[in-house]
Amino acid sequence: MTERLHDPDYRGFASDNYAGIHPEVLAAIAAANEGHQVAYGEDVYTERLGEVIRAEFGPEAEVFPVFNGTGANVVSLKAILPPWGAVIGTANAHIHTDEGGAPERMAGVKIYPVPVPHGKLTPELIATEAWGWGDEHRAQPLAVSITQSTELGTVYTPDEVRAVADYAHENGMAVHMDGARLWNAAAALGVPFREFTSDAGVDILSLGGTKNGILGAEAIVLIDPEAGQGLKYLRKLSMQLSSKMRFASAQLLALFEADVAGESLGIRSAQHANTMATLLRSQLDEGVADGSIRGLGFSQPTQANAVFAELGPAVADRVREQVRFYDWNRELNQVRWMTAWDTTEADVAHFVDVIRAELAR
Ligand SMILES: Cc1ncc(COP(=O)(O)O)c(C=O)c1O
Repeated sequence: MTERLHDPDYRGFASDNYAGIHPEVLAAIAAANEGHQVAYGEDVYTERLGEVIRAEFGPEAEVFPVFNGTGANVVSLKAILPPWGAVIGTANAHIHTDEGGAPERMAGVKIYPVPVPHGKLTPELIATEAWGWGDEHRAQPLAVSITQSTELGTVYTPDEVRAVADYAHENGMAVHMDGARLWNAAAALGVPFREFTSDAGVDILSLGGTKNGILGAEAIVLIDPEAGQGLKYLRKLSMQLSSKMRFASAQLLALFEADVAGESLGIRSAQHANTMATLLRSQLDEGVADGSIRGLGFSQPTQANAVFAELGPAVADRVREQVRFYDWNRELNQVRWMTAWDTTEADVAHFVDVIRAELAR
């Protein structure tokens, strides 16, 4: 038996990736184990995933499991853009700030970053970079990328996605959605995926899973087969083709598995994470309102599983020594607190106590 090296009671609010694997996902991996299955995606789990994805996103949708979210984004962008193409995204977009330049280097894609207030693009904001078609001196804006839920913990409504997609399509641009936290958005909106993806005009989607309790897998969902080309080949040449794909697919399938009440594991887990973020935010809001907590503000609405707070760096560092989290923008005193499928009410209560105590010092 391998020795356990970590303290299972250690909890933090740094990232939904800090959480472990949901027991139902572990069970799904175990159920997919034993015996032989054809490698590289010709297995029964990947076949079933294809059926589930078509039921969720439309009969034309094709699914391509990959290892991680950066891979899903990079391969998606490469599939929808020619070498002269550019993608318009937000200045906070993961593709722009957190992928080590992979979209530029691995996909050869130019990104036009647009500063946005709450992590969301609108037609008006996209228009600031949507120009210069036909001018060979400017990388051609041929795609728009939005993130759902956003890097700032906000959620696009179906109408907001549709407005972005309509504008993009009217101007000859494809729509990519980075759905690393798509489950959190679906849980927050309380509507099926297709209402804010396929039916709202999204052409290609990076479907998350790792942040919602699986060991490690994401998927590219090509919703409009006309929008992207060569995904089958691009995934392999981008080193995102898993030989033992049955396990990636089994994990993703587990998220779609419904309980007796008809709710999928993915929605239950994401709903829980969202509820914990709302609880954290409301407990702190109460303290600010009644004057028992001073020196704390919030920079974003809490709509999914993130709380963006403002507190001085010295206090933030003292709190962080006890409960880990990341700065978002140290100059602006902004920090990010994330909740996960396994965050408990006791974790939230403890964190609130620590914040309260350090602010009072
Ligand atoms: C918005 C967003 N997109 C994509 C990713 C996927 O990143 P990774 O390549 O680490 O799986 C993340 C992870 O932090 C993310 O927050």
